[in-house]
Amino acid sequence: MKESESAQLQEKEAWKRAVGEAAAALIEPGMVIGLGSGSTAEWMIRALGHRLQQEGLRIAGAVPTSERTEAVARAVGIPLTDLDHYPELDLDIDGTDEIDPHLHLIKGGGGALLREKVVASASRRFVVIADVTKQVPLLGLHVPLPIETVPFALTPVRRRLEALGAEARLRQRDGQPFYTDNGNLILDCYFPDGIADPGELENRLRRIVGVVETGLFLHMTTEALIAGPGGITHLAR
Ligand code: 5RP
Repeated sequence: MKESESAQLQEKEAWKRAVGEAAAALIEPGMVIGLGSGSTAEWMIRALGHRLQQEGLRIAGAVPTSERTEAVARAVGIPLTDLDHYPELDLDIDGTDEIDPHLHLIKGGGGALLREKVVASASRRFVVIADVTKQVPLLGLHVPLPIETVPFALTPVRRRLEALGAEARLRQRDGQPFYTDNGNLILDCYFPDGIADPGELENRLRRIVGVVETGLFLHMTTEALIAGPGGITHLAR
């Protein structure tokens, strides 16, 4: 790797860490919180673990959005709970793959979109954490939209997605189909001109039988913290 590339990666990691730590500072005693998934969310989870250990902060519990997040949270001593005990959460903090000026998101790069969306929708406050490279004027130009799909319905769902103008690729890991924590498959949908009307697309996608969830998070974000060269910017809906 070239020196300049390595410096860019380091800078990006520093932004992720800074925004993760800033988000962990929002957590107050007694809260029930949602723990997002991905590398940015993991910085927040580690910072929360640190606050529990060092400051003696006590929270009521945290609901993880993936098995990976659950393992990281356990390792740093965060008390875990679930939506049966707490169907409504005070605060959910999660990363994103893209965020547009309306604070609409594409999520699911790590394959955790279904649980992430359930937890975000169960939360009174949904704070998205990202670095400036995730900010886009139009969703879907640079990353595909993940669609979680029941394995039984894979081929008909794929055909319907293609009829909507997407190139739908089955997500693979190590040369094998990637299965989500819920036992489903992911079709990554590439839209060559981006997603001009995310609301209309979401409506159409939700009508396809066999689609479990989409990676479009619309009208859900209450706030976003964006880290970049000038520090952290706070955006609110
Ligand atoms: C996982 C997600 C992640 O939040 C998203 O992929 C961002 O990850 P990272 O912080 O590693 O860039 O949606 O399903």
